[in-house]
Amino acid sequence: MRWCFSFIFVLVLVVLHLDGLARSRALATPKTASPKVSSPQDLLSFTHYLNTCPDVEGIIQNKVRAWVKKDYTLAASIIRLHFHDCAVRGCDASILLNHAGSERRAEASKTLRGFQVIEEIKAEVEKRCPGRVSCADILTAAARDATVLIGGPFWEVPFGRKDGKVSIAREANRVPQGHENVTDLIQFFQARGLNILDLVILSGSHTIGRSTCHSIQHRLSNFNGTYKPDPSLNATYLRVLKGKCGRRYNYVDLDGTTPRKFDTEYYKNLGKKMALLSTDQGLYRDSRTSPIVEALATQPELFTNQFAVSMVKLGNIQVLTGKKDGEIRGNCNFVNPY
Ligand code: HEM
Ligand SMILES: *[C@@H]1O[C@H](CO)[C@@H](O)[C@H](O)[C@H]1NC(C)=O
Ligand SMILES: *[C@@H]1O[C@H](CO)[C@@H](O)[C@H](O)[C@H]1NC(C)=O
Repeated sequence: MRWCFSFIFVLVLVVLHLDGLARSRALATPKTASPKVSSPQDLLSFTHYLNTCPDVEGIIQNKVRAWVKKDYTLAASIIRLHFHDCAVRGCDASILLNHAGSERRAEASKTLRGFQVIEEIKAEVEKRCPGRVSCADILTAAARDATVLIGGPFWEVPFGRKDGKVSIAREANRVPQGHENVTDLIQFFQARGLNILDLVILSGSHTIGRSTCHSIQHRLSNFNGTYKPDPSLNATYLRVLKGKCGRRYNYVDLDGTTPRKFDTEYYKNLGKKMALLSTDQGLYRDSRTSPIVEALATQPELFTNQFAVSMVKLGNIQVLTGKKDGEIRGNCNFVNPY
């Protein structure tokens, strides 16, 4: 019975996977993600920079590799930066804009890192092909390269995103922070054209990287000081976390067992009540997501393959591709002055 259920479930995943591939081949923005209907010239393409900046992917890859070699933790930070970009106004590099009241200055963006990497890549790309390559495309490719560098899958990145001109802190503060329930998470993803499978798969990014203790403080004790830890937290793990979280901005690994490996331990941890974030633990408890968690915990190749598919979908959210949409910024931190 159990075996049979597993089999059917895997079949469903395979079908979803093929569906995902078909969508990513078509490269259209998911319809639910944007009110705008894409016309053929509006689509992203694999050959977008073939004539205008043929070496762009090599430049990006070399820079990301050099930075990650110096500081391994940047790989995870770049992947998260891409998520926070795409989650607000689509993948338009709005997260990079650095002015008063911008997304980057929001409370929820406080622990984002990797801005300097993108800045340096952009400077190099501008030298080689000035005014051609968008910051949104650079960040998208950098997230792919960061994934590969930490042992994750490779996927082809379609290009042609323009950079947005609008960035509002209040909108960045709506990106999930780790205390939401699964319904909130599903709704947030669905509003961006991502389904429940994408939610569980992309949460698997937490197989690497770190969180500040600040983000999990509510699980360790409550605010009026009476000690009351989250009952869904493994007691042994709780002791470890309390030892590490003496200060609010100390770091703890998101994957408590293999923090440096891009693997499925993250999903196995959920079964041991060892998720760092309560949102991650929630995926194991909720009947809409738990079968997917269980399948991924035992099928590493399923995680790897579907991660690539879901990342392409993430990178295609509400992209600006029309002639009149957005711009190619000269400096990723500011909109063009003219
Ligand atoms: C499902 C909703 C999600 C929630 C609630 C969430 C929440 C968080 C939180 C609270 C942190 C730690 C922040 C800190 O205190 O420093 C974090 C880190 C991270 N998140 Fe998520 N996240 C979600 C989805 C995603 C997605 C979709 C991705 C990528 C596709 C992602 C990639 C990462 C990575 C790589 C880190 C580690 C960053 C670093 O080490 O600098 N997350 N996330
Ligand atoms: C989830 O949280 C939201 C608030 O963020 C709340 O309105 C909603 O009732 C909660 N849903 C469930 C099923 O707990
Ligand atoms: C807590 O974690 C340990 C491993 O650290 C595991 O052996 C144990 O089964 C977990 N306890 C629960 C209740 O899941």
